[in-house]
Amino acid sequence: DGVLSFSRSMINSSDKIIRKGGSSIFQHRAEDWKINSSLVVEIRKNILQFLDAERDVSVVKSSFKPGDVIHYVLDRRRTLNISQDLHSLLPEVSPMKNRRFKTCAVVGNSGVLLKSGCGKEIDSHDFVIRCNLAPVMEYAADVGTKSDFITMNPSVVQRAFGSFRNESDKEKFVHRLSMLNDSVLWIPAFMVKGGEKHVEWVNALILKNKLKVRTAYPSLRLIHAVRGYWLTNKVHIKRPSTGLLMYTLATRFCDEIHLYGFWPFPKDLHGKPVKYHYYDDLKYRYFSNASPHRMPLEFKTLYVLHNRGALKLTTGKCI
Ligand code: CTP
Repeated sequence: DGVLSFSRSMINSSDKIIRKGGSSIFQHRAEDWKINSSLVVEIRKNILQFLDAERDVSVVKSSFKPGDVIHYVLDRRRTLNISQDLHSLLPEVSPMKNRRFKTCAVVGNSGVLLKSGCGKEIDSHDFVIRCNLAPVMEYAADVGTKSDFITMNPSVVQRAFGSFRNESDKEKFVHRLSMLNDSVLWIPAFMVKGGEKHVEWVNALILKNKLKVRTAYPSLRLIHAVRGYWLTNKVHIKRPSTGLLMYTLATRFCDEIHLYGFWPFPKDLHGKPVKYHYYDDLKYRYFSNASPHRMPLEFKTLYVLHNRGALKLTTGKCI
């Protein structure tokens, strides 16, 4: 059994609290939250039995040669060719090698961030992780701007940059990446078939514009390893969301992990509507079984960890 032993009753009781609403959701007031360092160390040790973020955060150049054929991680019958461009963008060594931080922020994309005023606090962390190339400039007061590590599902090219149909979409994209300087851009390119064109376009733009961003492409085993870890803790998650993947990876190199923008519910605790994303109008079927993710279950898990001092979840305003 996993050390955390998320019993069914723990999950169910947090379920009730969330459904009932009310500010009793968190056992501690934000000021009373305290890190439980021995639990942090224990979780890190346990996760290390399944994956090593330093290694699994990205494949490296020596893992492949151009022309190699690999099977998609979640779609084994389909294959992908490692192109010359992709190969040239694989890092020589892990971009997270020997990197350790006192405090890290993992920023999810929930609309709960709007009017939170959390920007300054987020930017004060030593290392800031963001998801899916979420825009920051227009929302700086609530989300901050520092981005040391940012993920990009291939579908972002279509969703946020019009599949580069217009020159202006391309320019907007190149501008966004150039703002990242030499931060890590993490592209899950080997998960499922469908995004390979997008990944190739992105790679070509990075090379053509000589962008400094440090590309990383998660290892073929990462998602299975992450799922395995949570399964042993009785959290049955078929496809961990980007946010949960980031928390799991961050346990390797951060002593204190603060989560913002995690709120996979259509309403806040006072019954006011909350946007799915803080920056677009995407609608999401939070509770649908058709969705590959189980964000509400993930949230409850993170909430249990918050109450035990393993991480800090912020879902309200930052003062
Ligand atoms: N998130 C959340 N509540 C929301 C939206 C997002 O908790 N209302 C968290 C999730 O952990 C999510 C992360 O923020 O993974 C980033 O959001 P998004 O870009 O939507 O995540 P993906 O998991 O990549 O979603 P999808 O596969 O649908 O693109």
